Amino acid sequence: SHAKFFVGGNWKCNGSVASVRTLVDELNAGSVPKGVEVVCSPPYIYIDYVMQHLDAQKFALAAQNCWISGNGAFTGEVSAEQLADFGVPWVILGHSERRALCGETNEVVGKKSSHALAAGLGVIACVGETLEQRNGGAMWTVLDAQMKALVDEIKDWSKVVVAYEPVWAIGTGVVATPEQAQEVHARLRAFCAKHLGAAVADKLRIIYGGSVNDANCAELALQEDIDGFLVGGASLKGPAFIKICQSGA
Ligand code: G3H
Repeated sequence: SHAKFFVGGNWKCNGSVASVRTLVDELNAGSVPKGVEVVCSPPYIYIDYVMQHLDAQKFALAAQNCWISGNGAFTGEVSAEQLADFGVPWVILGHSERRALCGETNEVVGKKSSHALAAGLGVIACVGETLEQRNGGAMWTVLDAQMKALVDEIKDWSKVVVAYEPVWAIGTGVVATPEQAQEVHARLRAFCAKHLGAAVADKLRIIYGGSVNDANCAELALQEDIDGFLVGGASLKGPAFIKICQSGA
């Protein structure tokens, strides 16, 4: 498929000093295939510890969000510039939880993405439809609008990974079938080919997220347009997450 297989572990707002220590030890004990790029995304407060202790030969770091602009009077926020300065190479933007719970619009996600890229970060940009949208026939309209907002703002796509995460599959145990995921990934790639050209679309990594685990990853990974995973719950268990990483080899 399309450049290096990419697996992200999104720890979300989970963990404690003790559990993060255990998880880092479990991850370091696992083996990650050379051809698979893996990033772990702890809550901000644990990034320093994880950066110091996680094996950088196997794992890179991602933040779960960043501010839409540079440093300034933005209480409670962390800027892309600060992440870059600290040595965090990636950021997840537009996760469905931030869209739904923090009011992030397509436009905000597009602007955050272009700002983070300009600051030197790689961006994992998330899109996905709700069950109501899928069942009501609005899925392609919703996904196209989410993608269009990215296309409008992002100039250089070389450091972008698109994560397709159907909202109905996130944290529910209801994983998309390989056919469902492949259908959407192919459509997203076609959208990119139309708006950005075939060369960009071919190289773009489109990863799947939503109830991925060590038992269902292999079948998904075989799909032509699935170039990796964004893993939530299963990324909190070291051995399971390592198996998911290995499915990309
Ligand atoms: O970012 C990760 C996704 O939201 C998937 O979460 O694997 O717990 O379903 P999940």
